Amino acid sequence: MEKTIDESLQGSTLSLDGTNGNTRKLYIESYGCQMNFSDSEIVASILSKEGFDTTQQLNEADLVLVNTCSIREKAELTVRKRLEKFNAIKKDRPHLKVGVLGCMAERLKHKFLEEEKIVDMVVGPDAYKDLPNLIQEIDEGRNAVNVILSKEETYGDVAPVRLNTNGITAFVSITRGCDNMCTFCVVPFTRGRERSRDPQSIIQEVNDLWEKGFKEITLLGQNVDSYLWYGGGLKKDFDKASEMERATAVNFSKLLEKVALAQPKMRIRFSTSNPQDMTLDVIHTMAKYENICNYIHLPVQSGSDRILKAMNRLHTRAEYFELIDNIKRIIPDCAISQDMIAGFPTETEEDHQDTLSLMEYVKYEYGFMFAYSERPGTLAERKLEDDVPDDIKKRRLTEIIDLQRQHSFERIQANLGKVQEVLIEGSSKRSDDHWMGRNSQNTVAVFPKEHYQVGDFVLVEMQDCTSATLLGKAVGYSKNQG
Ligand code: SAH
Ligand code: F3S
Repeated sequence: MEKTIDESLQGSTLSLDGTNGNTRKLYIESYGCQMNFSDSEIVASILSKEGFDTTQQLNEADLVLVNTCSIREKAELTVRKRLEKFNAIKKDRPHLKVGVLGCMAERLKHKFLEEEKIVDMVVGPDAYKDLPNLIQEIDEGRNAVNVILSKEETYGDVAPVRLNTNGITAFVSITRGCDNMCTFCVVPFTRGRERSRDPQSIIQEVNDLWEKGFKEITLLGQNVDSYLWYGGGLKKDFDKASEMERATAVNFSKLLEKVALAQPKMRIRFSTSNPQDMTLDVIHTMAKYENICNYIHLPVQSGSDRILKAMNRLHTRAEYFELIDNIKRIIPDCAISQDMIAGFPTETEEDHQDTLSLMEYVKYEYGFMFAYSERPGTLAERKLEDDVPDDIKKRRLTEIIDLQRQHSFERIQANLGKVQEVLIEGSSKRSDDHWMGRNSQNTVAVFPKEHYQVGDFVLVEMQDCTSATLLGKAVGYSKNQG
């Protein structure tokens, strides 16, 4: 099951094979959303040219970098514990340097560098190209900091080094930042304004991945539907674009089409979609191209109109239902997943019931559900009191999770008896005799290996399931193979 925030990956270290001539070791740990994991691949790429190879052994590291997440308080607390540990290691390895990357950088730079002195370097998500200079600073014994957010930076010209990869699936980032200003969300503050990456550099990366043997890509952005390329710059400045720039602008559905056509045998996914920005042409493009997977991650956060408004989600419950109806009409077997927040300020029992009834209407395949966590600097923190008591938040969250579990089980059972295309990603975690892959809807399927290989597109008859995994048997290759 693909997650916006994959708990099993939190804190993963990334490492790549040694590059000739590099003498220093970088240990890099990533937390939070997929974008952070993808950014760590950019950082490793930049630092490999500065003499650093990555390692998974903390005890041989010369530089430790932590790519941090601020989305909920818990994420920050986890990172802080790790920083304390790394700082303690310095007693035995005095030359070890520790740096903070990502979303905690801006808000906590003074605290980390000056007050607590637990790090040597703080680098925000748009400043990674400055790392060579910053590293020189810390090498010379000074603290280094760059948390400037950019209007232009997309790292479109940095070829990410694929780290800890299965060689089959990869992420390709298409936008950075977010302009939506959902009142609970810290992302617009930590990652800055929204900007899109040059479609040509996206296609080039996709072609390159195909040549290296990758078979599936996920286009990544905080809000992919908002993608808009008109020659560079901020999305919010589009109204100042010239007539020519407007006429040749590429929106998300056009980008999706370009990618689908560039590599017709490559599977294409994208994440995350935002209901207020997802247009019908995106759904039509998905339906038109077989290689675009039938899966949409479509966070809604709440089923109550009043709460949606307080969250500054710019759509109503009825509009969301209309979008869901359109998706199901145009792509009948499309899987849909959600993000939900329980206990947003002022949420009543009635609002909560609206969330549950919205879930009943959609019956999502999966869900990622969170208790509201007040984030410093957000509009909700400034304007609203975090007034839903913890025990009520927890109880509502449990009810949401329980209902999602029922729906997930109902949805997964509907696959039984069907023959579906599965792309093999690797061995099953539980058994070396079984392959693991996903169907188009992003559900994990496991089946006996027989003569099939990693990267094959296989037709699998789905015979049984657990709550999150389909169990089946291969019945041949799909037409996408070979
Ligand atoms: N558009 C982004 C959203 C990033 S945050 C994306 O690419 O997924 C991921 C999810 O975290 C959000 O959809 C929301 O459900 C949850 N979230 C964000 N801020 C939160 C907060 N303050 N408290 C609890 N959950 C939050
Ligand atoms: Fe956050 Fe809303 Fe953007 S959840 S990332 S402000 S779409």
